Amino acid sequence: MTDSRATIHLRSAGVSVVIAPSPEPRILHWGGALDDSDISALEVSSTGGQAYSSFDLPRIFPLLPRERSGWSGRPSLAWHRGGQFSDPAPRLAAIERPDAETVVLRYDDAAASVDLTLRLDTFGILHHSIRVSAAEGTDPLDLVAVRAVLPVPAEATEILDFTGRWTRERHPQRQPLGYGAHVRENRRGRTGHDSAFVMVAGTPGFGFRTGRVWAAHTAWSGNSELAAERLPEGAGVHGAALSSGELLLPGEIRLAPGESYTSPETVFLFSATGLDGLSAGVHSLLRSQPAYPSEPRPLVLNTWEAVYFDHDPARLADLARLAASVGVERFVLDDGWFIGRPDDRSGLGDWTIDPVAWPDGLGPIADLVHELGMQFGLWFEPEMVNPDSRLAREHPDWILSTDEDPALWRHQLVLDLTRREAWEHILEQMDAVITRTGIDFIKWDHNRDLHAAVSRATGRASVHAQVEAVYALMDELHTRHPSLEIESCASGGARVDLGVLEHTQRVWASDTNDPIERQAIQRWTGLLLPPELVGAHIGPERAHTTHRSASLGFRMATALFGHAGIEWDLAECTDAELDALRAWSALYRELRPLLHSGTTVRADLSGTANLLHGVVAPDAGHAVFAWVQAETGPNAAAVRVPIPGLDPASRYLIRERDELTSADPHQVLSPAWLDGPLSASGAMLCEAGLPLPVMNPGSALLLEFIREPA
Ligand code: GLA
Repeated sequence: MTDSRATIHLRSAGVSVVIAPSPEPRILHWGGALDDSDISALEVSSTGGQAYSSFDLPRIFPLLPRERSGWSGRPSLAWHRGGQFSDPAPRLAAIERPDAETVVLRYDDAAASVDLTLRLDTFGILHHSIRVSAAEGTDPLDLVAVRAVLPVPAEATEILDFTGRWTRERHPQRQPLGYGAHVRENRRGRTGHDSAFVMVAGTPGFGFRTGRVWAAHTAWSGNSELAAERLPEGAGVHGAALSSGELLLPGEIRLAPGESYTSPETVFLFSATGLDGLSAGVHSLLRSQPAYPSEPRPLVLNTWEAVYFDHDPARLADLARLAASVGVERFVLDDGWFIGRPDDRSGLGDWTIDPVAWPDGLGPIADLVHELGMQFGLWFEPEMVNPDSRLAREHPDWILSTDEDPALWRHQLVLDLTRREAWEHILEQMDAVITRTGIDFIKWDHNRDLHAAVSRATGRASVHAQVEAVYALMDELHTRHPSLEIESCASGGARVDLGVLEHTQRVWASDTNDPIERQAIQRWTGLLLPPELVGAHIGPERAHTTHRSASLGFRMATALFGHAGIEWDLAECTDAELDALRAWSALYRELRPLLHSGTTVRADLSGTANLLHGVVAPDAGHAVFAWVQAETGPNAAAVRVPIPGLDPASRYLIRERDELTSADPHQVLSPAWLDGPLSASGAMLCEAGLPLPVMNPGSALLLEFIREPA
């Protein structure tokens, strides 16, 4: 259908997106649901007044804002063609509706044609992507920027985005949205520990349960940028703009006539009920994706913190037997199994089994793991190479850098997977190990940033092509091995984004297994990812990354809210600890159907001493919450804390699940209601709440809510 005049109203899951095609395609509204009967009033009121010292027309804010359209902020398009046509002037040529959810706006320009696709999915999430195709002619088209830019209302005056570092990923930062641009550029060639992750703009004081929030996420694992920008003249009748896109390096995207570039998708999210509303939408989206795993999430044991590089087949066989005895369902052999890999200084790039560490190959351990009823997983780092490796010695031109002496990072360099021969070499090596050994799962690592990533084959910046090559490698392995699962790991959580989740089945959120750090990392990773896609492991009592000690109960309660696992040398454990792990694995199996399908709920509490988070079944008939004492707080005795997210009209039986941990009181007595079954309505629980105990720091209490028959 093509009609370039009628206003288009997309509506789903409480969200409306209204697009007016003329005088230039623009968003009239992106936010809460409207009726079709509201559209004409929206159209009539779609321009503001005319400002002093400004254009001689009221400003509008088009879907492709740029200088020529009167937008002095970061433009949606920037390019040139041999220095010419450097002022994009796309004119709408057609509007197409391939289906009821989707609008494709086709524009023409002297230098290029531009297709902008907007799709409002059934979860109320707006998917935005742009395709630029160079026009016929002689000069190539050099792309400088291709950004998705959407307006947000003037009431959105506070922003939230993220930073981080190794073992402290996705740490929130909040601030007022001042005038100017708050820009987060990622030039790391991977998503990054300090990824901006999501740019949220919302009403002042927005929280998990309250506030109106608009957000953008770039679904891409390479260079990217996210920005919130506010100019004194506004954005048409809107207050500010959110923008997102790939950060393009100089000369990186040069299109010959007829060639095209498609931007990574940006997902734009809106919620009228705070951040939990955003999460509910994205979690549903991820759960509906083709890459989403189809089997219950198996309990994992990963060998990394148990043995590091010390691969002794007999010891690892014992570890596998112990793992099976506590209920582990997937045994993952981490780094150290391939040739020339006694430590992290050598071996990357040579994906054949080390005959010294594994004289009989990996067959015997894989067979044992399978006989014990577990899946067998293996670590790879396919995009990397140590200079001390056969691959680097034989193919120096396969290094992704034109530097004669490129800087090492963890003693390694990046392999240029944009070279077909390198890509095929790695594919065949991996395929051979997977096929011969019977690998069910790959932990796919990526332990350095890509700096100055210029291909020796082309002399061109190649982050974009490298990311595409990696996605293609993952897809090819999935095609050859349909039941293979892949985990996205990058020195912990430096590759967590919705782009990689189109090709993988879980992420490793962080290298820290310290439960205090993990509570925060899992909470904020959970802003986009449902718990079952986020690996969460129990480490030893004294965390290897922080040297902080934590009780086993707290470690178990923390790992329960994720794709749970163990990363601990079980041979060190006492019988009591092994029994505790058995109880935990039984509880994980019991609760996993709820935890891995329900709605994530996080309470808004003042201060940082406590966290209250839980998962509520889609029909609200069952829920599990964790009350966490992260540090000491100002309260000496328990106070009522509202329990959000339950059905107000239902009555619930509330009980403590004390198999893993029970309130470790930091008061003489915990509240008496914890001793016996308590029945309360969802309304009472949400409006009045329950006195939750003051506990010693580093402890958690698990509460279960079961709907009582009417
Ligand atoms: C990275 C990962 C770790 C582990 C090591 C192995 O740091 O994040 O979990 O796999 O590599 O070298």
